[in-house]
Amino acid sequence: MDEPTTTGNEKAPLLKGVQQSKFIAFCRRHKRIVIPVAVMILLLPLLGLIALKTRHAHAMNWTSPVVYPSPQGYGAGNWSAAYLRARAMVGNMSLEEMNNITLGVVDTTSGCVGVSGSAPQHGFPGLCFHDAGNGVRNTDGVNAYASGLHIGASWNATLAYERAQYMGAEFKRKGVNVALGPVLGPIGRIAEGGRNFEAFAADPYLDGILGAQSVIGLQESVIASIKHFVAYEQETNRNPIANNGNPISSTSANLDDETMHELYLWPFQDLVHAGAGCAMCSYNRINNTYACENSKAMNGLLKGELNFQGFVVSDWAGQHSGLPSADAGLDMAMPTTGYWNERQLEKAVNSGALNQSRLVDMATRIVATYYQFGQDRALPLGIGMPPNLLLPHNYTDAKDPASKSSLLQQAIEGHVLVKNINGVLPLKQPKVLSIFGYDAVQQSSFVPSVLFPQSWEAIGLGTQQSIGIASNAPVQNPPEVQNGTLIVGGGSGSNTPAYISSPYDAIQSRAYDDGTAIFFDFVSTNPTVVSSSDACLVFINEYSSEVWDRPGLADPDSDTLVNNVASACNNTIVVIHNAGIRLVDAWVDSPNVTAVIFAHLPGQDAGRAIASILYGDVGPSGRLPYTVARRSSDYGSLLGPCQADGSLSPQCDFTEGVNVDYRGFLARNTTPRYEFGYGLTYSSFNYANLQTNINATTTPGDTVTPVYTNGTTNDNINNTAIGNGGLLSLFESVGTITASISNTGSVAAAEVAQLYLLIPAATSNSSNPRTRVLRGFEKVLIQPNETAQVAFNLRMKDVSTWNVTRQAWIVPSGEFGVYVGKSVLDTPLTGSFTV
Ligand code: BGC
Repeated sequence: MDEPTTTGNEKAPLLKGVQQSKFIAFCRRHKRIVIPVAVMILLLPLLGLIALKTRHAHAMNWTSPVVYPSPQGYGAGNWSAAYLRARAMVGNMSLEEMNNITLGVVDTTSGCVGVSGSAPQHGFPGLCFHDAGNGVRNTDGVNAYASGLHIGASWNATLAYERAQYMGAEFKRKGVNVALGPVLGPIGRIAEGGRNFEAFAADPYLDGILGAQSVIGLQESVIASIKHFVAYEQETNRNPIANNGNPISSTSANLDDETMHELYLWPFQDLVHAGAGCAMCSYNRINNTYACENSKAMNGLLKGELNFQGFVVSDWAGQHSGLPSADAGLDMAMPTTGYWNERQLEKAVNSGALNQSRLVDMATRIVATYYQFGQDRALPLGIGMPPNLLLPHNYTDAKDPASKSSLLQQAIEGHVLVKNINGVLPLKQPKVLSIFGYDAVQQSSFVPSVLFPQSWEAIGLGTQQSIGIASNAPVQNPPEVQNGTLIVGGGSGSNTPAYISSPYDAIQSRAYDDGTAIFFDFVSTNPTVVSSSDACLVFINEYSSEVWDRPGLADPDSDTLVNNVASACNNTIVVIHNAGIRLVDAWVDSPNVTAVIFAHLPGQDAGRAIASILYGDVGPSGRLPYTVARRSSDYGSLLGPCQADGSLSPQCDFTEGVNVDYRGFLARNTTPRYEFGYGLTYSSFNYANLQTNINATTTPGDTVTPVYTNGTTNDNINNTAIGNGGLLSLFESVGTITASISNTGSVAAAEVAQLYLLIPAATSNSSNPRTRVLRGFEKVLIQPNETAQVAFNLRMKDVSTWNVTRQAWIVPSGEFGVYVGKSVLDTPLTGSFTV
């Protein structure tokens, strides 16, 4: 044995004397192993350095341009009278008073989620802010509306308007001035996004159309706060984490200018055009600058390009600096602020650190919005919402009996039938029905909880998990399902049902009418099936909430339940209340699974709605507002959130550009299980007669002056071509595309006709290929053997692309592909027009 030895506590000296020569001899003998190992050891730190450098360099690549000064609101379009009144009021305010109305104050008298400072001397009472886009939450006497995603699945713009109109009136009766919705971001970039259920669709066009109608409906009563601005696509690392003094910043959404305009900014533009009065800046960073201090986003895009005349409020605790956020365009900090609360803005004006015109503009925007939407005639702040539902309070019933039929219609129209073998649906007076699954019955309790006064907000979280939310650290093992019929997702996008109509309740009353015998088991994942069952209905759900991204796209226990029932019942009908994409490949090909319905989040009339579809009172008329893949991996890098991976500055590169959801599937040539726009009904349709009547002209390269130049956005006031939403010509019609659709079946049914365009690429430098994109839809109810005409009106915006170099929307020259049909992949009519 000639190896060096050590004895006791004595360490062998490092390669000295005899041992050194022994080591050299050893190396010589084993050089084939020693040399590669040595090379590895030497290289590793080098590779590490290179990796660090790359990461650093890459982070540096994504920087947000600065755009100053902040454009001042001037009363564009129909805002002029409100601005006149606001100027009169703010003109009499002291700097301290102006400072005071820009921040949230503590209010213990109401249940408002935020209350802004007042200027009592001038008759300005402040504003009550409350959630959210799916109905008034966290109080009594209100309705639970269908969620954004459900309305997206309805593809019904009129219904979106009606919903918002009734919802807005409820906010108003409760003393709310600003309803914190609708939601346009997240748009659904990642399939597992926790808040995807709050927005309408994974498509900017559909979001823009439905969102604009929502703004119009809400603002008949209150101010709408469109959120979250912008590129807020994941819950994971959405807020900074303290991390023992080494804070981890919020994830930076890193995206290029073209992607920003054509995807994330797109729907916001429609909503500003529709007159939105408030916008909420988001938690994330955009190209490494926090959204609420991002001058490119707020000054450049929102107030400059979109010519937004309202005010920007921070998401709750989303403000991370004092003067930089004010200069970047933030007008109000919520729900409190440590940056502006000690008259810092006033002092900064006095010291010259902040331009007085900025503080005046902040106050003017807030007061102008208050006047613009009649809030000077509103009820006292939060009057109908007690701070604590458990203590005695005056009950304010904000529900309008007239909303009932609309609520039910909303609930019905967001159901998407994706499989129906041999017409098993609708049910035909079944003799025996078996009903299974935890989702068929309503949850066993619905009372305010200790941590959250209203239990929907933290559904399924244990106490420790709920407490842990405050740290902003990613939630461990979040729930995938909710025990009881899922009618809404969790977090601030939840709502408060006046009652819950569960599927089982509704089916029982049908059983009474039809003389049906019902067997049921709502607990077991392997229930017993009575052999005389005409059909087995299985109700499952897929939960989602603010604060965390979903741990997966299909809950395995629910899949086991479906497979077990299907193995014993050859007419298994599956209904999923899904708060986002839900995969079905674990069982959908089973011949015993005869029908499948994505029931989404219908609100309080869930049971009534599904019963009317199952029994054929109405045909299902929803279509998917997202893509259902065959397997999770088909979403590629857009399956789940970007992870911090130990970085203090987490980065999320949106390298896919505009190709999210169906555009990504088209670009990657991946066949989904159910494509965007897909859905069946109880009838069939034939498409014919495609006609294109488009008279757009290409935007000539040499005559276009860039409409917006960084830093000069105050020019809007002198430019009559600019109004609410920016360049007004973008919203002008360039013609229509028409088609006729015949109902070839035997029952009346609604069809959702969809128009997709393949826009010629204006520039060739894009690494992501352009795919067809949704540019029109129309929902029509057609009687059997009748034919309806649909007309898709195209706006200039719809045929334009964003030119990064010229900083302008241009209509590219070339051939535009036209596809009209039932979904993005099923387009029986194709044509083209040339510009
Ligand atoms: C959410 C907002 C919400 C606010 C007030 C935040 O956590 O991101 O959407 O409006 O809280 O509840």
